Amino acid sequence: MHFLTLPFLAAVVVDCVAARALSSTHVVHEKRDVASTGRWVKRDRVSSHVKVPVRIGLKQNQDALKSAEAWLMEAAHPASTNYSRHWTSDEVVEAFQPSADAVDEVLAWVSETARIAKNKITHTDNKAWLAFDASVSDLEDLLQTEYHEHHHESSGRTMITCDQYHIPSHLSQHIDYITPGVKGIQVHSSELKKRSFRPGKPGQGWGEGPGWGGAPGGWQPPKNRPAPHMPNPSTQLQTCDQVITPACLQALYHFKSLSPDAQVSPNNSMGIFETGNAYAQQDLNSFYTNFTSYIPNGTHPILDSIDGGQAPVANVSNAGGESDLDFELAIPIIYPQTTTLYQVDDPYYANGGNGTTTGIFNTFFDALDGSYCTYAAYGETGNDPVLDPTYPDPNTNGYKGPLMCGVYKPTNVISISYGEQEQDLPAYYQQRQCNEFLKLGLQGTSIFVASGDTGVGGYAGDGSYNGCLNNGTVFSPTQPNSCPWLTNVGGTKVYPGRTVYEPESAVVDPAGHPYRSAYSSGGGFSNIFPIPSYQSSAVATYFSDHNPPYPYYYNGQYNGSAGLYNRNGRGIPDVAANGDNIATYTAGKFRTSGGTSASAPIFAALVTRINEERIKVGKGPVGFINPVLYQHPEVLNDIVNGTNPGCGTEGFSCAPGWDPVTGLGTPNYPRMLNLFLSLP
Ligand SMILES: *[C@@H]1O[C@H](CO)[C@@H](O)[C@H](O)[C@H]1NC(C)=O
Ligand SMILES: *[C@@H]1O[C@H](CO)[C@@H](O)[C@H](O)[C@H]1NC(C)=O
Ligand SMILES: *[C@@H]1O[C@H](CO)[C@@H](O)[C@H](O)[C@H]1NC(C)=O
Ligand SMILES: *[C@@H]1O[C@H](CO)[C@@H](O)[C@H](O)[C@H]1NC(C)=O
Ligand SMILES: *[C@@H]1O[C@H](CO)[C@@H](O)[C@H](O)[C@H]1NC(C)=O
Ligand SMILES: *[C@@H]1O[C@H](CO)[C@@H](O)[C@H](O)[C@H]1NC(C)=O
Ligand SMILES: *[C@@H]1O[C@H](CO)[C@@H](O)[C@H](O)[C@H]1NC(C)=O
Ligand SMILES: *[C@@H]1O[C@H](CO)[C@@H](O)[C@H](O)[C@H]1NC(C)=O
Ligand SMILES: *[C@@H]1O[C@H](CO)[C@@H](O)[C@H](O)[C@H]1NC(C)=O
Repeated sequence: MHFLTLPFLAAVVVDCVAARALSSTHVVHEKRDVASTGRWVKRDRVSSHVKVPVRIGLKQNQDALKSAEAWLMEAAHPASTNYSRHWTSDEVVEAFQPSADAVDEVLAWVSETARIAKNKITHTDNKAWLAFDASVSDLEDLLQTEYHEHHHESSGRTMITCDQYHIPSHLSQHIDYITPGVKGIQVHSSELKKRSFRPGKPGQGWGEGPGWGGAPGGWQPPKNRPAPHMPNPSTQLQTCDQVITPACLQALYHFKSLSPDAQVSPNNSMGIFETGNAYAQQDLNSFYTNFTSYIPNGTHPILDSIDGGQAPVANVSNAGGESDLDFELAIPIIYPQTTTLYQVDDPYYANGGNGTTTGIFNTFFDALDGSYCTYAAYGETGNDPVLDPTYPDPNTNGYKGPLMCGVYKPTNVISISYGEQEQDLPAYYQQRQCNEFLKLGLQGTSIFVASGDTGVGGYAGDGSYNGCLNNGTVFSPTQPNSCPWLTNVGGTKVYPGRTVYEPESAVVDPAGHPYRSAYSSGGGFSNIFPIPSYQSSAVATYFSDHNPPYPYYYNGQYNGSAGLYNRNGRGIPDVAANGDNIATYTAGKFRTSGGTSASAPIFAALVTRINEERIKVGKGPVGFINPVLYQHPEVLNDIVNGTNPGCGTEGFSCAPGWDPVTGLGTPNYPRMLNLFLSLP
């Protein structure tokens, strides 16, 4: 078989279609965007007898996608009469599922045209997918196309895909997309005819990989800073500018620990996401022993292992700084309530899959929501075969079980201190994921995400030499923070030489320095997601009263523009909490650490406490909290000093009211508690 080069492939399809007498009622449903094929090299036509798993993603109820924001606001806006009336997971599945007519019409087409018995076609639980096995020749007839193997140079993976395919025009409104199609399915070469592939080069992902706790290019030791010292318990409140202990946080945000024998709800465990980074029990023990009087040795999270995730580490030398920090911050705030550790992905994938995977969170959502495994939206169904791990995983240390779907109930609160930049992942991947954040919010789960540690830019080497767009000038927003349906948390610090009883600033404050700051708290405006309604007036006020001194663009269109940020994108972050000079035991040693990695679990733990108080008086968890906070900024300590430098600029500046550095501010726990207790 002879191949033409990619740009001419449409002609091949037309030839083959003509030979098969394309029905005039068929239309092209999806066509490959030539520009996006650069990483894949086309190889041979797939043999006609090869059996492939076929998935037809049915369009989600279009009315539901349009109504979703209004539904979330009904459950989350303080003015709603149905505030805190959350949905069950079944209600969510039912609301978003495709119509019954859509299912019947597509089923009839497949069974009549491809002669596949209806009972061999599976309709997934969330109604979003039809699944069946077909030979390549039957599928080529059904979709009037041709399949070829494609080889990915850097990862060594093989996919089968076509360049475009056709469906009857009356089904266009029902079908989102079909795999294998323009989007391929991954196959092991043994499933194709034997052929030797050249080994690929080690992976060159888009980003440095997940994690800004201890990730390369993340936290750097600051210059001219006093060496961290173990604080004296009796004077620790006077040294919170140097070391933040649990007592400093209590003083800053005005809360006390619970009595260790308090009666607490068994259903209000605080969830914490980790991947590729696991805690050491010895570190937690040392921390609790030295910094609290009320947490016994051996206190640890409940492990909800996902797809082979492993924790704790056996040898304290291998402890992960992120995971240690998260549990050293959260447990002292909420004890004797429990934490639940979502340790995600087997060691092979959690450590980057040998350079093959750059996606994040999809396997996590799969485990919390079985319907997400097969959910079709924004042109993607289930996990992305290129970006996400594939289970079972045949690699050494790989998790040998099937992908975990819907095995854990989501906790009321989930804290995430991992992320990437928007530029690291395709927009459709992030949109589908964002829709899942919305669904979790509908069900009453609050999600807190660290806003990132590189200010208005990304990590050096991530996207460009300095992590910024357009080769180094345009600000690069973080993800998943840019999704409007979660709460993202920036970092603050106690001013050097001042106490916890005085206002904090953003971690970088050129005016209030005497030493260079360790990192720059993530903030800015999404290029993918527009400003949500609950935030629009806060953002408009910032622009009108404190207009940033930079040119901007609209609708995420930075290419060809002189602008540095998207004027109508979702603003980041929403709130903030301390994230500098945090006391920690990691790998057996006392040290101080920092980053918005600390801010997210602090804020999330306080919301867990608020949920506990609401449960005590017979109310439900608060769920998605942003609409309430933007209506009631007075329950937060407004941070007015500091900036978030990046991309060769000073970044944005803090100001009275919401700002893209510290959002609405840090928690004032008693005020937040009173407000949320006053709501239904
Ligand atoms: C509140 O929920 C009830 C019951 O689900 C529903 O009938 C009502 O329409 C909702 N109210 C509003 C304002 O949406
Ligand atoms: C990682 O990928 C390289 C290049 O494809 C390969 O040579 C190496 O064996 C892989 N390592 C593992 C642990 O799979
Ligand atoms: C906890 O949740 C379970 C299952 O949802 C329920 O049966 C139980 O009553 C709840 N317990 C409390 C104290 O709310
Ligand atoms: C708690 O654990 C630490 C560190 O593992 C150990 O040194 C200490 O003796 C333990 N304390 C108690 C009271 O068991
Ligand atoms: C902290 O706790 C550990 C374990 O309980 C103990 O061995 C150590 O002496 C304590 N103090 C310091 C300064 O680390
Ligand atoms: C723990 O790891 C360290 C560093 O890799 C190593 O030196 C030490 O021998 C290990 N300890 C045990 C008990 O395996
Ligand atoms: C990107 O910026 C670097 C550093 O300024 C420069 O060396 C390089 O030529 C630029 N690349 C392009 C394509 O403009
Ligand atoms: C913080 O900002 C306020 C108001 O602009 C100013 O009065 C104060 O001096 C600033 N603090 C520092 C340490 O610069
Ligand atoms: C940016 O625009 C230029 C000129 O319009 C175009 O050649 C280039 O491919 C665009 N780059 C991206 C990443 O879209």
